[in-house]
Amino acid sequence: MNLPKIHSISKKICVALLGGFLLIFLLFHASANLLVLRHDDGAWYSAFCHFMGTNYIVKVFEIVLLGFIALHICFTAWLWITNRLARPVRYHKDGKSKTHPGSKLMMWTGILIFSFLVMHFCQFYFVKLGWVKGEYMVKTEKLQDPEMMQWAELANQMDQSLDEFINDLEARALTYTDENSDAEETQAYIDRLRGKSEVLNIITRAYDEDNISEDGKWIRHLTYEERKVLRDVLPESDPEPDFYYMVRQLFHNPIMVILYLITFVVLFIHMRHAFPSAFQTLGLNNYKYAKAIDILGQIYAWVVCLMFAAVVILVYLGL
Ligand code: HEM
Repeated sequence: MNLPKIHSISKKICVALLGGFLLIFLLFHASANLLVLRHDDGAWYSAFCHFMGTNYIVKVFEIVLLGFIALHICFTAWLWITNRLARPVRYHKDGKSKTHPGSKLMMWTGILIFSFLVMHFCQFYFVKLGWVKGEYMVKTEKLQDPEMMQWAELANQMDQSLDEFINDLEARALTYTDENSDAEETQAYIDRLRGKSEVLNIITRAYDEDNISEDGKWIRHLTYEERKVLRDVLPESDPEPDFYYMVRQLFHNPIMVILYLITFVVLFIHMRHAFPSAFQTLGLNNYKYAKAIDILGQIYAWVVCLMFAAVVILVYLGL
């Protein structure tokens, strides 16, 4: 029965490599989240999310990341099942096991982190994919449609409200159709008029309700329906989730604060064991460095989890 042994080691190496990658991602993710704490009305965090959401290299990285998470889970589950099948009768426990306490908890902490990820994705990532509704924002510079600007200016000059002006245009287009019976072309024009008038109404409401970011670059608090209108009428405007607002909103809810903080404790236990364990599996550990790697693992897990926790706690306290 040599084959399963070889397989088991290769699987362990895969788990370690994938886990190492995820450890690096968590440090990056926790550091980036600190931008939420800047008192700049989300200017830096929104710019960061915009870059992450539009850069093609990042998009590929995102797919790789999700693939690695899935593989990490699959390989771990596979290892666990094959180990169980290979040893149906469990060893007698003498109570003197030298295994790190976290190692026994790896499977359970892993399942809890996975459950957290499902919730976390529903709160953020799936909003980006359009599977879950959220709050959106759009760059003001992307709404400078020449035709729309011209209508707004003309309405202003004629001392008319936008709705009045667009109704006039529509009535004139209909009269023109009666005379020239070019119905299809006129209908297309009227549809464009109506679409763009909806966009103008969204913009007007945003300015009236002061939903403009402090630096004037973003229109905020757009609903799912408004995002749909913008996407249909001005596809190049490309509205995106307002993660800065959504994060701040989420951590006003004490239940979410507690759930996230519990997750960070679980994540700490998982990472604290994963770090030295990955070194050991990859053969990068020996008795000389074992202690140093263990301490490094502890520091790493503390730094990442404290950075995550700082965002949750400080946002909740309104700091
Ligand atoms: C303070 C805590 C956290 C906040 C505020 C936060 C916020 C976010 C936000 C806003 C996104 C969407 C970003 C985007 O798609 O552009 C995201 C995605 C993600 N988060 Fe978190 N997160 C936190 C903790 C965690 C933790 C603890 C984990 C892992 C255990 C995690 C794993 C992920 C993953 C895998 C993604 C999808 C990949 C990505 O879009 O970068 N997050 N998070």
